[in-house]
Amino acid sequence: MLAPDCLRAAQARVLPQLERHLKEAPTAALRLLSAMSYANLEGGKRLRAALVYAAAQTLDAPLEHADAAAVAVEFVHAYSLIHDDLPAMDDSPLRRGLASCHIAYDEATAILAGDALQALAFEVLANDEQLAIATRLKLVQRLAKASGLQGMAGGQMIDLIYTGSEQKPSLTQLQQMHRLKTGALLEASILMGCDCAGLTDVLITEAITQYSQALGLAYQIQDDILDVVSLESNLGKPQGRDAALNKMTYPAVVGLDKACEMREALYQQGMAALKPIKLDTAPLQDLLAFVVRRKN
Ligand code: IPE
Ligand code: IPE
Ligand code: MG
Ligand code: MG
Ligand code: MG
Repeated sequence: MLAPDCLRAAQARVLPQLERHLKEAPTAALRLLSAMSYANLEGGKRLRAALVYAAAQTLDAPLEHADAAAVAVEFVHAYSLIHDDLPAMDDSPLRRGLASCHIAYDEATAILAGDALQALAFEVLANDEQLAIATRLKLVQRLAKASGLQGMAGGQMIDLIYTGSEQKPSLTQLQQMHRLKTGALLEASILMGCDCAGLTDVLITEAITQYSQALGLAYQIQDDILDVVSLESNLGKPQGRDAALNKMTYPAVVGLDKACEMREALYQQGMAALKPIKLDTAPLQDLLAFVVRRKN
């Protein structure tokens, strides 16, 4: 499926902003800046940035108010990918069609690049003078929760505990792992877009939360499916890696057909959740369709 207009617009908008925040470094640490830039500026669908902008746009916020959040979620995401590829985690040599950061640089530099990107994400949010202090605090809280123990890092821990283990997770446990390792940051991206727009309406918040939970889980189910059915040349990362590592994925636990059915059910749920919102939700609808139809 071709990228929708809103995804292409977000890619074009966020790239120069990522570059702008990756400019200055102590001279002796230029290698670290170089690794951070390497892991951020080449490739990447920028879905998380697009979700921030789509939510802000739906709620009529100026896009400038969403830039810091878009940059911050992409920095945290890039950091999570750098660490995910390390030998101690998925040991993957290819990312976004290029050598993974620890191969292009070295493991220690890749660890530090992840660390520094995470810190930079929060610095960008805290420093954006266009946003009220209370909004910045809300954004920091949301991103912190989605990144840490109750989000991505917690989900990655569960993933590693199951990897290669004899014990298969139940569907509920698998769902929880996916919601944490991938869903949390995607959900946070959408809700941070809402925060930038100053959303307070309870019904709209509830509807968008339902939508974002469906999208977040559907995204990782499709990631698991693509690892089985796609090609390395499409993915820009190794294919068949999950089976090789004996990862607990949807196809491994429920089978490929059932995984596809579950992905479709989540698509329907996400679309239905947007229905009661009497605003233009076309970008959010397009991004959900992209999430479930994408080939990379
Ligand atoms: C890959 O994320 C890792 C997951 C959380 C599933 P993406 O598929 O969004 O990666 P990029 O940013 O487009 O490379
Ligand atoms: C990664 O899940 C989730 C992250 C938090 C990065 P995967 O391990 O399935 O992501 P890929 O397939 O390597 O991109
Ligand atoms: Mg992984
Ligand atoms: Mg991986
Ligand atoms: Mg994967």
